[in-house]
Amino acid sequence: MTKSANTMWGGRFAAGPDAIMEAINASIGYDRRLAPQDIAGSRAHAAMLAATDIISDSDAAAIREALLTVLSEIETGAFPFSTALEDIHMNVEARLRDLIGEPAGRLHTARSRNDQVAVDFRLWVRDQCDQADAALEALQKALLDQAGAGADWVMPGFTHLQVAQPVTWGHHMLAYVEMFARDRSRFADARKRMNQSPLGAAALAGTSFPIDRHMTAQALGFDAPMANSLDAVSDRDFALEYLAAASICAMHLSRMAEELVIWSSAQFRFVRMSDKWSTGSSIMPQKRNPDAAELIRAKIGRIFGANVALMTVMKGLPLAYSKDMQEDKEQVFDAADNLMLALAAMTGMVGDMTANRDALHAAASSGFSTATDLADWLVRELNLPFREAHHITGSLVAVAETKGCDLPDLTLDDMQAVHPGIRADVFDVLGVENSVASRTSYGGTAPAQVRAQVARWKEVLS
Ligand code: ARG
Repeated sequence: MTKSANTMWGGRFAAGPDAIMEAINASIGYDRRLAPQDIAGSRAHAAMLAATDIISDSDAAAIREALLTVLSEIETGAFPFSTALEDIHMNVEARLRDLIGEPAGRLHTARSRNDQVAVDFRLWVRDQCDQADAALEALQKALLDQAGAGADWVMPGFTHLQVAQPVTWGHHMLAYVEMFARDRSRFADARKRMNQSPLGAAALAGTSFPIDRHMTAQALGFDAPMANSLDAVSDRDFALEYLAAASICAMHLSRMAEELVIWSSAQFRFVRMSDKWSTGSSIMPQKRNPDAAELIRAKIGRIFGANVALMTVMKGLPLAYSKDMQEDKEQVFDAADNLMLALAAMTGMVGDMTANRDALHAAASSGFSTATDLADWLVRELNLPFREAHHITGSLVAVAETKGCDLPDLTLDDMQAVHPGIRADVFDVLGVENSVASRTSYGGTAPAQVRAQVARWKEVLS
């Protein structure tokens, strides 16, 4: 049995598509997510067609009203989606025809699915920029609470994951507040650039109807219509910018997730995840696994993957629209869903986790973490060149290592055997509290600096 030809373009087709053709061609399985944007775009378009006397006011009113009915049918699950109707645009239009008959056919005047999908997808991605921004702000606030509570809690700072110098818990938390602030500004930049309307570009060349693209742009919250109709239907760099910002944000999340995995281990015990954010093992009763952190660490893969996939889809496409571009959506949806989930999970974990001050302090006090302070003391007090001070300190670390103790546990005799000029007041700088308190340079880890940054961020985020 031959299927009947498509009602949208059946004029020149005698037969319908092969079943496999229908399967490869259809996007309704995923682009139904664009329904709210598609209907908003169509309602703006209909209003504009009436305002410019391209269709009658009564037809526009009927279309606009019925589109709301369609939207509520979709929201309640009553909408009869059809794969034969290929995508969200044709599904909505066909339903509109069921509801109001002939006027439905006037909606597609001076429009193509090419500008229609471009506007729908832009609106969707724009909304994701806003959602990412709000989720990042919530995460920053959770981090800021941690930073405020632990502005002077001493912990080891690492380089190469080797103890380097003591820092404060607050300082470490604020490092992520800064990263997520830059992520927010990347989403904001992308949003600003993408906020131009492709609607009215029609298939690719514009239209001979006297449309008002400024009117639809304004109705949909865009700053302006896009200035070139070919560019308008063929551009997907707005989605790529979103994915690039999402990828960098996900990369930051994965670094933080990795730290939480390490910190919550029995070897570190820097943090305790709450029960809400831990899982047990079916065989090992002692386990508290940081699954959420591990999954955040892993989710970065699909977000990077989406970015590469869309770059690859777009690479080498001639202007203007090609059906390849239908493959622009699914991965962006997946990336956005997983980014939002990762942000929410990270915010929950950070809000609920408890830092183990004793473990942080003990770790900060081991591993010769104040060796730099000792070298700085030699420079400041004995006027030695830094290189020589570095060498002397290295010798003292070796002595401590041989004795199996830390730098503050050496005797003054031990010290003076390496350099006779060393005095007893050197021990003042070997304690980790003094070490962090001394790092008062702007952006440094001294509690006074950290408190000032916490206050600044509270202001910014209030
Ligand atoms: N479903 C299509 C997409 O997502 C809509 C645009 C179709 N345009 C066309 N010329 N066939 O790209």
